[in-house]
Amino acid sequence: MTVHERTQVGIVGAGPAGLLLSHLLSLGGVDSVCVETRSRAYCESRQRAGMLESTTVELLRAVGLGDRLDAEGLEHDGIYLQFDGERHHMNFRELTGGRWITIYAQTEIVKDIIAARTAAGAAPQFEVSNTAVSALDTARPVLSYTDARGMRHVVTCDVIAGCDGFHGITRRSIPGGGLTMLAERSYPYAWLGILAAAPPSTDEVIYCRHDNGFALHSMRTPEIGRLYLQVPADEDISRWPDERIWPELATRFALPGWSLTSGPVLQKSITPMRSFVAAPMRFGNLFLAGDAAHIVPPTGAKGLNLAVADVTALATALIRLIRDGDAELTAAYSDHCLERVWRSTHLSWWMTSMLHIAPDQDQFESELQLAQLRHLVSSRTAAASLAETYTGYRPLRFDPSTRLDAARLWPSVA
Ligand code: FAD
Ligand code: DHB
Repeated sequence: MTVHERTQVGIVGAGPAGLLLSHLLSLGGVDSVCVETRSRAYCESRQRAGMLESTTVELLRAVGLGDRLDAEGLEHDGIYLQFDGERHHMNFRELTGGRWITIYAQTEIVKDIIAARTAAGAAPQFEVSNTAVSALDTARPVLSYTDARGMRHVVTCDVIAGCDGFHGITRRSIPGGGLTMLAERSYPYAWLGILAAAPPSTDEVIYCRHDNGFALHSMRTPEIGRLYLQVPADEDISRWPDERIWPELATRFALPGWSLTSGPVLQKSITPMRSFVAAPMRFGNLFLAGDAAHIVPPTGAKGLNLAVADVTALATALIRLIRDGDAELTAAYSDHCLERVWRSTHLSWWMTSMLHIAPDQDQFESELQLAQLRHLVSSRTAAASLAETYTGYRPLRFDPSTRLDAARLWPSVA
């Protein structure tokens, strides 16, 4: 059986981008339907990001999603950079005049927004199948899907938001020529990530360059550590039993007088490393946001933060369009977002290249990496530049009112 429905914004994907977009739209009085292939439990437990820019934290607080984040998030002043047997603290708060970073897992943000949408009587539709989008270049684009009970839905929308991640269907539904740029870079290594019942052995996140490869020590709570190791691209995870992971982490992070606390590995997975940008982030009345439009290697901790920035801009633009009939911000959406996307793409590529060891790396490249790292920890100007982009590019403004003009809301568009 097929039901025909109507909404203002059809949202494909209930990751951070789709969920936050539906929440922001509701604050501006715009209706949406959000559909998701996976189950709620899967979305709430998929281990991914953890590092939030202060700009992201401030936005989440401003839109009513800050309670648990403030109670349970771990606020940090900066990071450690480790190389050549030295560990240096980079104090971003001091370097930026007050900006900071917060560890609060993506799983928790997803839980918070699903709870808020459920309380508002507008929970996403989980476990849908055969999602499709059509009539994208018309004033009435259509979102179709089959719900968990087998009912087919055909939803006529004003706008569709493609928030379905890198492997989703929305970007691939854009006809040939609709995207004028597909820029991509893959890296010859991957990350093995573990979640472990091991108290963090550090007060701040450690980014470490070692001749064996990159390692990252992060955390989730005072009892749970989150750690990553550079491994070969296409690595077989069965080659990394726990008894191999902990000694390798201890070798890469080793410093005299410091030791790494190990513990049971709760979860383990391998992530490939890729940069990708599709542009423009719009085709007709389909708007792409988050990983559906761009991905970065995780070294700069930018993916989730970019997804939040995209949908903050998109929600404001769509509220103006749908509620007030003002298309100025939707016209500017793609250019506005891409400026931040390319800044973050550069940071992620640069940090990745500086900290990982390529399979064919020669001494020339190794010396360049070390020279760059030494410069970062000895030049205040270089450190301040990293601190500025790492903690957030520009403040995020969500204002569903009509009072602010575009130039004040998005200075880059003026
Ligand atoms: P996703 O989270 O991928 O959500 C897309 C959703 O769409 C998914 O739930 C998917 O199931 C659904 N979907 C797909 N196809 C369909 C369909 N046909 N119909 C319906 N639904 C569909 N970022 C940071 O900012 N900081 C970090 O510290 C950080 N660390 C990371 C560490 C790792 C190991 C990894 C892998 C990523 C990390 N990231 C980090 C990146 C971050 O996790 C992503 O950028 C973020 O998940 C993007 O959110 P999204 O909503 O755009 O996409
Ligand atoms: C985390 C992930 C990252 O990619 C990063 O750069 C920093 C921290 C994390 O999972 O905590």
